[in-house]
Amino acid sequence: MSIRTDIKKVGVIGTGTMGSGIAQTFAQAGRQVLMVDTDAAAVERALAGINKSLSKLVEKEKITADVAEATRNNLKPAGLSDVSGVDLVVEAVFEDVNVKRELYGQITKSLPADVVLASNTSSISISQLGAISGRPEQFIGMHFFNPVPMMKLVEVVIGLQTSQPVIDMTVKLSEELGKTPLKVKDHPGFVSNRVLMPLINEAVACYADGVADAATIDEVMKLGMAHTMGPLSTADLIGLDVCLNIMEVLHRDLGEDRYRPTPLLRTMVHAGLLGRKSGKGFYDYSKK
Ligand code: NAI
Repeated sequence: MSIRTDIKKVGVIGTGTMGSGIAQTFAQAGRQVLMVDTDAAAVERALAGINKSLSKLVEKEKITADVAEATRNNLKPAGLSDVSGVDLVVEAVFEDVNVKRELYGQITKSLPADVVLASNTSSISISQLGAISGRPEQFIGMHFFNPVPMMKLVEVVIGLQTSQPVIDMTVKLSEELGKTPLKVKDHPGFVSNRVLMPLINEAVACYADGVADAATIDEVMKLGMAHTMGPLSTADLIGLDVCLNIMEVLHRDLGEDRYRPTPLLRTMVHAGLLGRKSGKGFYDYSKK
């Protein structure tokens, strides 16, 4: 099966936190981007956020005003039916296998067979999503990191049936976006979350045991381990609900006690203390 390798037009489906950053990144790299979301307000928010981000980049002289303008012109709100005209689809909808299943069912009927479908999922099996999409050979994980325009890594997640040309195209394209692609096999948590989430989980356990306060735990990891951000600040940024969800996937799919979510993590999620997005997590953001 030959696939499209000259990617000029990209459909980004789901324009929330990640989709908006992914759309900006492709547009800045000169690709036309169709932005699709079931919530029209999400596309508006994404466009406003990208606009602000581009203005800041121009102010800081990271990009020229011409590049910012060209980037804006590359972005177009679109509907699901327009997606059949793209060279690549990047899916960044809710982290829910049923939502992704329904979406794939809607798009794959009209999507040409040589168009690759990439998912930005952070914890669902790429092999499973590939099977659900009905085109497992043309399916791959393109795992970006938040904030996408700033973060260098693309974790390229290879499903059991992902074909070699699809892997090669994804690696090359990621490099053209100015990113560093790193190939990993499909396995629970891939590499990024398999390592990061247990670290966060253990930091929560330290906090729950009263070993130190949140700021001290974070400073230990920053000053002693040269981490740019402490684990509890990172958890607040990611969202404690997302962290809990990924720990549950690791616990369920790897089946070992060491991946058991720390009870306090679950209690905080139940209490609505989700981190930055709710205004409070390990730190209070309500007054900032
Ligand atoms: P989000 O909740 O900010 O955005 C998701 C967007 O998808 C929403 O705007 C929603 O309206 C839209 N959506 C839902 N169903 C849809 C459908 N059927 N068709 C079109 N649009 C639909 O979520 P976020 O954080 O951007 O996550 C998206 C994906 O990226 C998830 O798979 C998540 O696991 C993954 N991810 C998230 C990271 C993060 O730091 N937030 C990091 C890396 C991956």
